[in-house]
Amino acid sequence: MNWIEDKKCTAEEAALLINDGDVLGVSGFTLAGYPKVVPTALAARAEKLHAEGKPFQVTLFSGASTGDSCDGALARANAVSFRMPYQSNPALRKAINSGAIKYIDAHLGKMGYWIRTGALPRPTVAIIEVTSILPDGRVCLSTSGGNSVTFLESAEKVILELNTRFGDACVGIHDVALPELPPHAKALAIDAAGDRVGETFARVNPNRVLAIVEQSRFDEVTPFVEPDEISRNIGERILDFIRYEENRGRLLKGLAYQSGVGKVANAVLSAMAADDRLHQIDLYTEVIQEAVLPLLKNGKLGIASGTALTLSESTQKEFVANAEEWKKHLVIRQQEVSNSPDVIKRIGVISMNTALEVDIFGNVNSSLVTGSAMMNGIGGSADFARNCLLGFFMTPSVAKNGTISSVVPYVSHVDHPDHDTMIFVTEQGLADLRGLAAEDRARLIIKNCAHPNFKEPLSDFLEYSLKHAKGIHMPLAINRAFEMHQKFLETGSML
Ligand code: COA
Repeated sequence: MNWIEDKKCTAEEAALLINDGDVLGVSGFTLAGYPKVVPTALAARAEKLHAEGKPFQVTLFSGASTGDSCDGALARANAVSFRMPYQSNPALRKAINSGAIKYIDAHLGKMGYWIRTGALPRPTVAIIEVTSILPDGRVCLSTSGGNSVTFLESAEKVILELNTRFGDACVGIHDVALPELPPHAKALAIDAAGDRVGETFARVNPNRVLAIVEQSRFDEVTPFVEPDEISRNIGERILDFIRYEENRGRLLKGLAYQSGVGKVANAVLSAMAADDRLHQIDLYTEVIQEAVLPLLKNGKLGIASGTALTLSESTQKEFVANAEEWKKHLVIRQQEVSNSPDVIKRIGVISMNTALEVDIFGNVNSSLVTGSAMMNGIGGSADFARNCLLGFFMTPSVAKNGTISSVVPYVSHVDHPDHDTMIFVTEQGLADLRGLAAEDRARLIIKNCAHPNFKEPLSDFLEYSLKHAKGIHMPLAINRAFEMHQKFLETGSML
């Protein structure tokens, strides 16, 4: 019998290979390609051990967020002590915000690099979802690239989840390569979204594979919601602006697009797909999400390069049925490559990410509600925002039925400082901040982006700051910078 058959076992048996205090490196990126049965079995084991009064917790590293059968199950079982670098699961988020789980949200392009250069511990156990295993140790990764190759190469023990649901659909979408490490690392020869520099399969040393668990499950991705009026409006404003820049001769031809995660980014991309002014485009992005499909179906997609194929279940079925055709347009990379500052800069990317709140001076908060409660994390937004050629941050001008202004005097947490931001867009309008000093940025953002209900308090803050701030270069009166947030904390509304 070959080693593959030899190592097949149940999820429960595989979970027994994991010990209290282990560092797990799991595949998966924004709900795509994560292990689905071993983490659930591990959660059940942790609960049993806890009931017997025994400790059992692990550190959980991944590419980015995983599905509920991994992040959710382990969080509910109190089986995670430390999590990195991104999550979006309600149970995990609750545990992080209650202090039960320590969490670092990190630039996603850097996580693998930190492991490879020794800044972070190497995983003791890698759990990687694959769709095929060859006798010579080559494996086909499933719907995400993430940090899987780094985990496969660095972990002491490897558990493979063999997902039979996708058949051969994923064979050929991956471009498996990692950047060289410094010093004197050679540049990756990726100059266009479709360039391939790696192999089709990842590799694992069969001697380190301790278990292979078969399963047949789709990624748990919530169904796509059609874009609402606000998102369509934001998408149209972005396209108007791109056309305006092209007409002025300020925008180079042939740039690729990056679209961030979440409802708003998905909706904006699909609004753009429906717009007649948008002709064929390439994406050099992090997550290839549902909204890319209309582009593909109406012939507007050249290549979509990313590190995850995050599709609803019905669209995953469509992918399996049409894989040969769709694969001509898709490249899945490791996240150190999809988010490589060097590659993003040389390709030339128009970047579109979503903010929780922006301030009148140009800073962006993407991660922390009122500066303390974690939503998801910074993700790869800074990898792109800092290195793109043209960068948009978009957000509806208000949240929670109009009670919260997304434009504030000063953000309650800075993910993207004013040095890295270029253009803000809300459904109210667009502010091009490039080349503007702080006071001018503030006036433009209030005029073009703030909701009418909040223009007055924002202007009032600016005029007060111009009189009372210590320096007028950055007219920020510290004593009133968080007045709107404070009002929200006290009354549940900024109004
Ligand atoms: N204060 C408090 N809550 C706010 C808020 C604010 N200023 N702005 C938005 N919210 C809430 C919304 O009400 C919503 O809450 P709900 O889940 O209870 O309905 C939630 O935040 C998400 O906002 P939503 O409008 O549904 O937007 P989204 O799904 O597009 O997500 C981000 C927006 C910012 C959370 C998401 O894009 C994100 O996590 N970004 C950071 C990572 C990133 O950019 N990755 C891309 C890298 S390539």
